[in-house]
Amino acid sequence: MRIRLSLILFVSFILFSCASKKKEIAQFSPEKVLDQSVEKIKEAQSSIQNVSDFPRNIPEGQTNWEMVGARDWCSGFWPGILWYAYEHSNDAGLKSNAMKSTEALEKIAYSPAENHDIGFMLYCSYGNGYRLTKKEEYKKVLLAAADTLATLYNPNVGSILSWPIKKDEYDHNTIVDNMMNLELLFWAAKNGGSKHLYELSESHAKVTMDNLVRDDASMFHLGSFNGESGEFLKGVTHQGYADDSMWARGQTWGIYGFAIAYRETGNKDFLNTSIKLTDHFLERLPEDGIPYWDFDDPKIPNAPKDASAAAIAASGMLELAGLVEDLEQKQKYTEAAKILIEKLSNAPYYSGDANQALLLHSTGHHPRNSEIDVPIVYADYYYMEALLRLKKLEASE
Ligand code: GLY
Repeated sequence: MRIRLSLILFVSFILFSCASKKKEIAQFSPEKVLDQSVEKIKEAQSSIQNVSDFPRNIPEGQTNWEMVGARDWCSGFWPGILWYAYEHSNDAGLKSNAMKSTEALEKIAYSPAENHDIGFMLYCSYGNGYRLTKKEEYKKVLLAAADTLATLYNPNVGSILSWPIKKDEYDHNTIVDNMMNLELLFWAAKNGGSKHLYELSESHAKVTMDNLVRDDASMFHLGSFNGESGEFLKGVTHQGYADDSMWARGQTWGIYGFAIAYRETGNKDFLNTSIKLTDHFLERLPEDGIPYWDFDDPKIPNAPKDASAAAIAASGMLELAGLVEDLEQKQKYTEAAKILIEKLSNAPYYSGDANQALLLHSTGHHPRNSEIDVPIVYADYYYMEALLRLKKLEASE
C-alpha cells in the first residue's frame, strides 16, 4: 500500500515537472526579447560614426564592437541585423541606417571574388534589404553578386572554391560553411539571373553531401578535391579541433544549408541530410543545451562554448520544421529551436547590459586562438533571425 502511494506520488511529481517545464517553454515570448534587442541595436548603431565600419566582435575587457571593413567576411551581418531590427520595429531610423550600411557593401558585388563569403556579405545585407523594400537597385546588386560568386565554381569538381588557401596541399577546397552561400545563387536563378546558377548550386550541395557528410552524420569542415579530376582527396578541418572532430558551427551550417537546398530543389536527399545532421547535433548537445565550440575537444567540460552555433541551429531548425511533412518531426524541431532560443535569451548567454552585443560566449577560430568565448556579430544575426522566425510561427498558430 505504502509502495503504491509512493509510486503515485513519484509519478505525479514527474508529470507535474513535465507540465511546468512545458508551460515555461510555451510561455517564452520572442516579442519581449526582440523589443529589448532592438533597443540595444539602436544604441550600438548610434555609436557607429563611419558607415563603412562593420561590427565584428567584442574582445574581452571591452564593451563596444570592434569594427572591420567591407571586405571582411563578416561585413554583411551588421546591416542584416539592422534590417531584422527594422522588420520587428518598423522604426524609420533603423531602416535608414540599414540602407546606408547595406549600400556601403555595393562594391563587393562588382569586385573579383576573393572567396565564397560574398554570399554571407551580400545576401544578409542586400538580400534582407530587397526582401523588405523591393528596391530595384538592390536586386541589381544581388544579381551581380551571384555572378561574381559563380566565378569560383569549378565544373571538374562540381563545387564552388571556398578559399584559395594552402593551394599546394588542398587543390580545390569546399567547406561546409559554403552551403550557406547557395541561397544567393538559388535566389538569383529565380529572379532574372542565369538558370546555370541553380544548376551549380544544386551540384555544389550534392558534392558537399556526398563527400563532407560522414557516416555518423557529423560533418567534415573542409573537403579537399583534385581540381582537375574532381577526385575527393580527403576531409580535414580548418576551424575545428581535429580532422575527424565535430566542429559545432560547421555542423550547424550543414543543418541550415541542406534545409535551404531542399527548399529550393525539392531533392529529398538534401532534406534527409539536414534531418540526420540535426538529429546527431541534438543527440550530442551537452547538458545545458548550448554546444561547446567543438563536440570532441578533450578539454570539455572546460572548453569554450559557441553561442553562434546554437543561434544558427535554432534558425536552421525552424526552417527545417517548416519543410518536414511529418507532424511529430515538425514539433520536434520547433521545440528544439525554442529551447535553444530561450536558453540564449537568458544568462549566461544573453548579454543584458554587459556590452553592445546581444549574445555572449561565441567562438570564432579556436585553432588560431582568435575570437574565443566572446560576442561575435553572426551570433546576433542568426539569433535575431531565429527570434523573428519564432515570432512569425507563433503569430500563425
Ligand atoms: N568560416 C565561417 C565561420 O567561421 O563559421
